[in-house]
Amino acid sequence: MSELPWWKNAVVYQIYPRSFNDSDGDGVGDIPGIIERLDHLDDLGIDAVWLSPVYESPQHDNGYDVSDYRAIHSGFGTTADWERLLEGLHDRDIRLVMDMVANHTSSEHEWFRQSRSTPEGEHGDYYVWREGDPEAPPNNWESAFGGSAWEYDDERGAWYLHLFDTNQPDLNWRNPRVREEIYDVMNWWLEKGVDGYRLDVVNLLSKAEGLPDGDPSGEWVGSEHFVDGPRIFEYLGEMHDEVFAGTDTVSVGEMPQLDLETASEYTGDGPLDLVFPFEHVELDFGDRGRWDIGEWRLPELKSILDRWQRGLDEEWWTTLFFENHDQPRSVSRFGDDERYRYESATALATIILTLRGTPFVYQGQEIGMTNSTFASLDDVADVDSVRNVRELIDGGVVKDYDAIRHVVEYRSRDNARTPVQWDDSPNAGFTDGDPWLPVNDDYPEVNVARERSESPSVLAYYRRLIELRASTPPLVSGRYNLHYPDDEQLFVYTRTGDNRRVVVVINFSADDRAIDLGPLDGSASLLLGNHEDVPESPDGAVDLRPYEARLYETEPRGSGPSESP
Ligand code: GLC
Repeated sequence: MSELPWWKNAVVYQIYPRSFNDSDGDGVGDIPGIIERLDHLDDLGIDAVWLSPVYESPQHDNGYDVSDYRAIHSGFGTTADWERLLEGLHDRDIRLVMDMVANHTSSEHEWFRQSRSTPEGEHGDYYVWREGDPEAPPNNWESAFGGSAWEYDDERGAWYLHLFDTNQPDLNWRNPRVREEIYDVMNWWLEKGVDGYRLDVVNLLSKAEGLPDGDPSGEWVGSEHFVDGPRIFEYLGEMHDEVFAGTDTVSVGEMPQLDLETASEYTGDGPLDLVFPFEHVELDFGDRGRWDIGEWRLPELKSILDRWQRGLDEEWWTTLFFENHDQPRSVSRFGDDERYRYESATALATIILTLRGTPFVYQGQEIGMTNSTFASLDDVADVDSVRNVRELIDGGVVKDYDAIRHVVEYRSRDNARTPVQWDDSPNAGFTDGDPWLPVNDDYPEVNVARERSESPSVLAYYRRLIELRASTPPLVSGRYNLHYPDDEQLFVYTRTGDNRRVVVVINFSADDRAIDLGPLDGSASLLLGNHEDVPESPDGAVDLRPYEARLYETEPRGSGPSESP
């Protein structure tokens, strides 16, 4: 496997610093807190960390609003702490991927202060400004967090664009000096030794000429004029040449509304190594989109994943994920966090770690953390949830918070942001102070210490799967084939290498299920399963328990599960 770049062999673990571990008792996670827990990452066997933004920031969007790209946020620690973190990771052969927010800055960034106070100055054109009637925004574009994407600034007497919060003005990527500034920042951290970047909402950088109105019935009004915009390939190509070319780093683009065809232009021979698509985590949207819960069925999930898997040719590689800091907990969403928490969390782990692509595991996912409860809107911290829910209430779409509470508890980004549960001491061992977001009530049962000592455990299964993936070449680079595409319970696929084949068999349902593995014959052997007491070799029909997952190894010649394509 040595010919593959490191990131194709890697399992990446995402840290959201605010919620990971607090070392100084202020209730907010910090970099020294991460350093205290490095052995947890080492034990897990991951190869790289993606660290959500730690730059100086007023934290309106928890660091995705950067006020100084070259400084560490004082609440998270110092540059020296960050250097110790990098060293601690590298000592353990774990790489560090930083998060780069290049679409917008915080409104407290010096560039924006200058831009609003001195339009004719050198930063005057760093943002997307439009003059005009203070009562009428320049177009109908919407912010992802609800409401207009424009804010009128009295100081400059003009409107500025913010595709996210009002505190997150969009940078003007048409201005070559803006682009140079961002590349300089990226190179500055690369020189300090970072191993790559996750690029925040990076397919939104290019806005259509003239900023025309969007289709008012669109899901995100205006997005056809800024998603994969007219100059995006020019900008990302330039970023590639200025920053990534000739380095041993990884670039991962976060890309809202990405389709498969465009994805293949961004990666492979394109400017980036990897992209994050979102189709599979949008299949449970309802009539009101994100702020509604839709029905989803297993064949649909398989069909989306299958399309993205088959979109992969030799040059093309994808990311594999169910969770990140913007997504609710996968065991609550796709699994069964009450009756089958262990089983369904490990079934999901099996999918993420055995499909083709680079797996991304989000903090807490490795212990099967679940969604939380938010009794009132005052308990919700996330700017996206608060703004969108307020808008739905103010617009009369829902009566009050109680009418939408179930959706918030299902969908809000805060579900991913409750503190990591380390043990069963007060505040789950996350902090000695008052946590900035309450710890999930289930921490006495769901925590790292318990997962370490109990068997079976979600954590132990993640560890074994990560190890297995690293030592089983077909799981990284083998061909992928889906079986039983329309089956409502079974998720079965094969990963075929030159002389080994892995058959992944999952009963992704809360009911028992028998499957005929007869064609695998006696030569197949069990590599791993999320249940004990499984025979080493399948012998005809096997009975799978709810959310049971098994990995068998066999020779590529065998015909495999009966419904082979
Ligand atoms: C990305 C981040 C999200 C943030 C948004 C604006 O989607 O993942 O957390 O709110 O960009 O920066």
